[in-house]
Amino acid sequence: MKIVTDPQELQRQCLVWRNAERTVGLVPTMGFLHAGHTALMDRMRPECDRMVVTLFVNPTQFGENEDLSNYPHDFEGDCAKAEAHGADLLFAPAPDAMYAPDHATWVEVPELGRHLCGASRPIHFRGVCTVVTKLFNLTRAHKAVFGQKDWQQLAILRRMARDLNMPVEIIGHPIVRESDGLALSSRNAYLTETERAAAPAIRRGLLNLRETVRAGQRNAGAARAALKEEYASTLPMGEVDYIEIVDPADIVPMEDISGPVLAAVAIRLGKARLIDNILIEV
Ligand code: PAF
Repeated sequence: MKIVTDPQELQRQCLVWRNAERTVGLVPTMGFLHAGHTALMDRMRPECDRMVVTLFVNPTQFGENEDLSNYPHDFEGDCAKAEAHGADLLFAPAPDAMYAPDHATWVEVPELGRHLCGASRPIHFRGVCTVVTKLFNLTRAHKAVFGQKDWQQLAILRRMARDLNMPVEIIGHPIVRESDGLALSSRNAYLTETERAAAPAIRRGLLNLRETVRAGQRNAGAARAALKEEYASTLPMGEVDYIEIVDPADIVPMEDISGPVLAAVAIRLGKARLIDNILIEV
Protein backbone atom coordinates (compact mmCIF):
# COMPACT_ATOMS: atom_id res chain seq x y z
CA MET A 1 0.00 0.00 0.00
CA LYS A 2 1.34 3.38 -1.02
CA ILE A 3 1.07 6.26 1.49
CA VAL A 4 0.67 9.68 -0.11
CA THR A 5 0.45 13.08 1.57
CA ASP A 6 0.74 15.34 -1.48
CA PRO A 7 -2.60 16.01 -3.28
CA GLN A 8 -0.84 16.37 -6.64
CA GLU A 9 0.81 13.01 -6.24
CA LEU A 10 -2.60 11.47 -5.49
CA GLN A 11 -4.00 13.13 -8.61
CA ARG A 12 -1.10 11.89 -10.77
CA GLN A 13 -1.36 8.31 -9.47
CA CYS A 14 -5.12 8.15 -10.02
CA LEU A 15 -4.72 9.52 -13.55
CA VAL A 16 -2.15 6.82 -14.30
CA TRP A 17 -4.67 4.21 -13.11
CA ARG A 18 -7.50 5.74 -15.12
CA ASN A 19 -5.34 5.92 -18.25
CA ALA A 20 -4.60 2.22 -17.80
CA GLU A 21 -8.40 1.68 -17.67
CA ARG A 22 -8.39 0.76 -13.99
CA THR A 23 -11.49 1.72 -12.01
CA VAL A 24 -10.83 3.77 -8.89
CA GLY A 25 -12.86 3.37 -5.69
CA LEU A 26 -12.76 5.96 -2.90
CA VAL A 27 -13.32 5.44 0.84
CA PRO A 28 -13.16 8.86 2.54
CA THR A 29 -12.59 8.79 6.32
CA MET A 30 -11.33 11.01 9.12
CA GLY A 31 -9.21 8.16 10.49
CA PHE A 32 -9.20 6.38 13.88
CA LEU A 33 -10.56 3.51 11.84
CA HIS A 34 -12.98 1.02 13.37
CA ALA A 35 -15.06 -1.86 12.01
CA GLY A 36 -17.54 0.62 10.47
CA HIS A 37 -14.75 2.02 8.28
CA THR A 38 -13.28 -1.37 7.40
CA ALA A 39 -16.80 -2.50 6.37
CA LEU A 40 -16.79 0.40 3.89
CA MET A 41 -13.45 -0.83 2.53
CA ASP A 42 -14.74 -4.40 2.30
CA ARG A 43 -17.79 -3.07 0.42
CA MET A 44 -15.66 -1.08 -2.01
CA ARG A 45 -12.85 -3.60 -2.58
CA PRO A 46 -14.69 -5.88 -5.05
CA GLU A 47 -16.23 -2.84 -6.79
CA CYS A 48 -13.00 -1.36 -8.15
CA ASP A 49 -9.52 -2.19 -9.45
CA ARG A 50 -7.71 0.33 -7.25
CA MET A 51 -8.95 1.43 -3.83
CA VAL A 52 -7.99 4.77 -2.28
CA VAL A 53 -8.63 5.30 1.44
CA THR A 54 -8.33 8.86 2.72
CA LEU A 55 -7.49 9.88 6.30
CA PHE A 56 -8.16 13.57 6.77
CA VAL A 57 -9.67 15.32 9.76
CA ASN A 58 -11.20 18.05 7.67
CA PRO A 59 -11.03 21.32 9.64
CA THR A 60 -13.70 23.10 7.59
CA GLN A 61 -16.47 20.79 8.79
CA PHE A 62 -15.87 21.51 12.50
CA GLY A 63 -17.48 24.47 14.25
CA GLU A 64 -15.58 26.66 16.71
CA ASN A 65 -16.54 24.76 19.85
CA GLU A 66 -16.33 21.28 18.38
CA ASP A 67 -13.76 18.54 18.84
CA LEU A 68 -11.32 19.27 15.97
CA SER A 69 -8.28 19.60 18.24
CA ASN A 70 -9.14 16.49 20.29
CA TYR A 71 -10.33 14.29 17.44
CA PRO A 72 -8.84 10.82 18.13
CA HIS A 73 -6.10 9.55 15.83
CA ASP A 74 -3.95 6.45 15.39
CA PHE A 75 -1.97 6.78 12.18
CA GLU A 76 0.00 3.52 12.52
CA GLY A 77 -3.12 1.52 13.40
CA ASP A 78 -5.06 3.14 10.53
CA CYS A 79 -2.31 2.25 8.00
CA ALA A 80 -2.33 -1.38 9.17
CA LYS A 81 -6.14 -1.62 8.95
CA ALA A 82 -6.37 0.04 5.52
CA GLU A 83 -3.67 -2.26 4.16
CA ALA A 84 -5.26 -5.37 5.68
CA HIS A 85 -8.58 -4.42 4.03
CA GLY A 86 -7.05 -4.04 0.59
CA ALA A 87 -6.28 -0.33 0.13
CA ASP A 88 -3.85 0.33 -2.72
CA LEU A 89 -3.24 3.89 -1.60
CA LEU A 90 -3.71 5.74 1.67
CA PHE A 91 -4.00 9.51 1.31
CA ALA A 92 -3.19 11.42 4.51
CA PRO A 93 -2.61 15.10 3.72
CA ALA A 94 -1.86 17.91 6.18
CA PRO A 95 -4.60 20.57 6.38
CA ASP A 96 -2.47 23.20 4.62
CA ALA A 97 -1.89 20.82 1.71
CA MET A 98 -5.66 20.67 1.22
CA TYR A 99 -6.54 24.32 1.88
CA ALA A 100 -4.57 27.31 0.62
CA PRO A 101 -4.47 30.18 3.15
CA ASP A 102 -6.76 32.13 0.81
CA HIS A 103 -9.11 29.22 0.03
CA ALA A 104 -12.35 30.88 -1.03
CA THR A 105 -14.52 28.30 -2.80
CA TRP A 106 -17.29 26.32 -1.13
CA VAL A 107 -19.79 23.70 -2.21
CA GLU A 108 -23.15 23.70 -0.45
CA VAL A 109 -26.53 21.96 -0.63
CA PRO A 110 -28.39 24.29 1.76
CA GLU A 111 -31.88 22.84 1.17
CA LEU A 112 -30.91 19.48 2.69
CA GLY A 113 -28.81 20.92 5.47
CA ARG A 114 -31.42 22.94 7.39
CA HIS A 115 -32.49 20.18 9.80
CA LEU A 116 -30.93 17.37 11.87
CA CYS A 117 -27.16 17.92 12.22
CA GLY A 118 -27.23 20.93 9.89
CA ALA A 119 -29.37 22.86 12.41
CA SER A 120 -26.86 22.60 15.26
CA ARG A 121 -23.72 22.45 13.06
CA PRO A 122 -24.33 25.27 10.58
CA ILE A 123 -21.05 25.07 8.61
CA HIS A 124 -20.63 21.31 8.86
CA PHE A 125 -22.10 20.15 5.55
CA ARG A 126 -20.51 22.98 3.60
CA GLY A 127 -17.15 21.67 4.83
CA VAL A 128 -18.10 18.06 4.04
CA CYS A 129 -19.30 18.89 0.51
CA THR A 130 -16.22 20.98 -0.19
CA VAL A 131 -13.70 18.39 0.97
CA VAL A 132 -15.53 15.52 -0.73
CA THR A 133 -15.62 17.53 -3.99
CA LYS A 134 -11.87 18.05 -3.62
CA LEU A 135 -11.37 14.29 -3.05
CA PHE A 136 -13.54 13.51 -6.09
CA ASN A 137 -11.47 15.92 -8.18
CA LEU A 138 -8.16 14.57 -6.91
CA THR A 139 -9.04 10.91 -7.43
CA ARG A 140 -11.64 11.17 -10.25
CA ALA A 141 -13.03 8.08 -8.50
CA HIS A 142 -15.58 5.98 -10.36
CA LYS A 143 -17.25 5.02 -7.06
CA ALA A 144 -17.25 6.29 -3.49
CA VAL A 145 -18.79 4.75 -0.38
CA PHE A 146 -20.26 6.48 2.70
CA GLY A 147 -21.92 5.04 5.81
CA GLN A 148 -25.64 5.40 6.49
CA LYS A 149 -24.99 6.40 10.10
CA ASP A 150 -24.45 9.87 8.64
CA TRP A 151 -27.66 9.55 6.62
CA GLN A 152 -27.99 13.31 6.11
CA GLN A 153 -24.40 13.51 4.85
CA LEU A 154 -25.10 10.68 2.39
CA ALA A 155 -28.31 12.34 1.14
CA ILE A 156 -26.49 15.66 0.70
CA LEU A 157 -23.54 14.10 -1.13
CA ARG A 158 -25.88 12.19 -3.47
CA ARG A 159 -27.74 15.40 -4.26
CA MET A 160 -24.48 17.33 -4.76
CA ALA A 161 -23.12 14.70 -7.16
CA ARG A 162 -26.40 14.61 -9.10
CA ASP A 163 -26.86 18.38 -9.27
CA LEU A 164 -23.27 19.05 -10.32
CA ASN A 165 -23.04 16.09 -12.73
CA MET A 166 -20.14 14.57 -10.87
CA PRO A 167 -19.21 11.34 -12.66
CA VAL A 168 -19.11 9.20 -9.55
CA GLU A 169 -21.41 6.48 -8.25
CA ILE A 170 -22.18 7.01 -4.57
CA ILE A 171 -22.76 3.85 -2.55
CA GLY A 172 -24.46 3.93 0.86
CA HIS A 173 -23.46 1.26 3.36
CA PRO A 174 -25.63 0.12 6.33
CA ILE A 175 -24.71 1.14 9.88
CA VAL A 176 -22.27 -1.20 11.61
CA ARG A 177 -23.09 -1.78 15.28
CA GLU A 178 -21.59 -3.22 18.42
CA SER A 179 -23.29 -6.44 19.61
CA ASP A 180 -25.40 -4.37 22.04
CA GLY A 181 -26.66 -2.14 19.22
CA LEU A 182 -24.53 0.98 19.68
CA ALA A 183 -23.58 2.38 16.26
CA LEU A 184 -19.81 2.34 15.75
CA SER A 185 -18.25 5.79 15.82
CA SER A 186 -14.76 7.15 16.42
CA ARG A 187 -16.43 9.39 19.02
CA ASN A 188 -17.45 6.36 21.13
CA ALA A 189 -13.85 6.62 22.39
CA TYR A 190 -14.93 9.71 24.40
CA LEU A 191 -17.49 7.74 26.46
CA THR A 192 -16.82 6.91 30.11
CA GLU A 193 -17.63 3.38 31.27
CA THR A 194 -21.03 4.49 32.64
CA GLU A 195 -21.90 6.41 29.48
CA ARG A 196 -20.85 3.49 27.30
CA ALA A 197 -23.07 1.12 29.33
CA ALA A 198 -26.07 3.45 28.85
CA ALA A 199 -25.46 4.32 25.16
CA PRO A 200 -27.25 1.29 23.59
CA ALA A 201 -30.50 2.91 24.83
CA ILE A 202 -30.18 5.23 21.81
CA ARG A 203 -30.75 2.36 19.41
CA ARG A 204 -33.38 0.70 21.62
CA GLY A 205 -35.38 3.93 21.60
CA LEU A 206 -35.31 4.05 17.80
CA LEU A 207 -36.44 0.43 17.58
CA ASN A 208 -39.31 1.19 19.99
CA LEU A 209 -40.29 4.20 17.88
CA ARG A 210 -40.39 1.95 14.81
CA GLU A 211 -42.64 -0.47 16.70
CA THR A 212 -45.10 2.29 17.61
CA VAL A 213 -45.23 3.39 13.95
CA ARG A 214 -45.72 -0.20 12.83
CA ALA A 215 -48.51 -0.48 15.39
CA GLY A 216 -50.28 2.45 13.76
CA GLN A 217 -48.85 5.70 15.15
CA ARG A 218 -49.00 8.23 12.29
CA ASN A 219 -48.42 11.43 14.22
CA ALA A 220 -44.72 12.27 14.07
CA GLY A 221 -44.96 14.81 16.92
CA ALA A 222 -46.45 12.22 19.28
CA ALA A 223 -43.86 9.59 18.26
CA ARG A 224 -41.03 12.07 18.89
CA ALA A 225 -42.46 13.12 22.25
CA ALA A 226 -42.69 9.45 23.34
CA LEU A 227 -39.05 8.88 22.40
CA LYS A 228 -37.98 12.02 24.25
CA GLU A 229 -39.75 10.75 27.35
CA GLU A 230 -38.14 7.32 26.96
CA TYR A 231 -34.65 8.85 26.70
CA ALA A 232 -35.32 10.96 29.80
CA SER A 233 -35.60 7.72 31.78
CA THR A 234 -33.13 5.45 29.91
CA LEU A 235 -30.47 8.10 29.30
CA PRO A 236 -30.87 10.58 32.16
CA MET A 237 -27.29 11.78 31.72
CA GLY A 238 -27.86 12.41 28.01
CA GLU A 239 -28.79 15.73 26.44
CA VAL A 240 -30.99 15.44 23.38
CA ASP A 241 -29.75 17.61 20.52
CA TYR A 242 -32.57 16.48 18.23
CA ILE A 243 -35.16 13.77 17.72
CA GLU A 244 -36.61 14.17 14.23
CA ILE A 245 -38.76 12.28 11.78
CA VAL A 246 -37.91 13.39 8.25
CA ASP A 247 -38.34 12.58 4.62
CA PRO A 248 -35.38 10.27 3.88
CA ALA A 249 -34.42 12.01 0.61
CA ASP A 250 -35.18 15.69 1.27
CA ILE A 251 -34.41 15.66 5.02
CA VAL A 252 -37.42 17.83 5.89
CA PRO A 253 -39.52 17.09 9.01
CA MET A 254 -42.82 15.29 8.42
CA GLU A 255 -45.92 15.71 10.55
CA ASP A 256 -47.89 12.75 9.17
CA ILE A 257 -46.18 9.43 8.71
CA SER A 258 -47.69 8.30 5.44
CA GLY A 259 -44.70 6.88 3.56
CA PRO A 260 -41.14 5.86 4.34
CA VAL A 261 -39.56 8.10 6.98
CA LEU A 262 -36.21 8.40 8.64
CA ALA A 263 -36.17 8.73 12.42
CA ALA A 264 -32.89 10.34 13.42
CA VAL A 265 -31.43 11.39 16.77
CA ALA A 266 -28.37 13.17 18.11
CA ILE A 267 -27.62 12.87 21.82
CA ARG A 268 -24.80 14.37 23.82
CA LEU A 269 -23.38 11.91 26.34
CA GLY A 270 -20.58 13.54 28.27
CA LYS A 271 -17.95 14.62 25.74
CA ALA A 272 -19.48 12.62 22.89
CA ARG A 273 -22.22 13.71 20.53
CA LEU A 274 -23.68 10.49 19.15
CA ILE A 275 -26.00 10.14 16.17
CA ASP A 276 -28.13 7.24 15.02
CA ASN A 277 -31.10 6.69 12.73
CA ILE A 278 -33.60 4.15 11.49
CA LEU A 279 -35.45 3.97 8.20
CA ILE A 280 -39.12 3.11 8.74
CA GLU A 281 -41.14 1.76 5.82
CA VAL A 282 -44.87 2.32 6.23
O1 PAF B 1 -17.98 10.91 7.31
C1 PAF B 1 -16.83 11.37 7.49
O2 PAF B 1 -15.98 10.73 8.11
C2 PAF B 1 -16.46 12.72 6.94
O3 PAF B 1 -17.52 13.61 7.01
C3 PAF B 1 -15.92 12.65 5.49
C4 PAF B 1 -16.97 12.12 4.51
C5 PAF B 1 -14.69 11.76 5.45
C6 PAF B 1 -15.52 14.05 5.01
O4 PAF B 1 -14.55 14.61 5.82
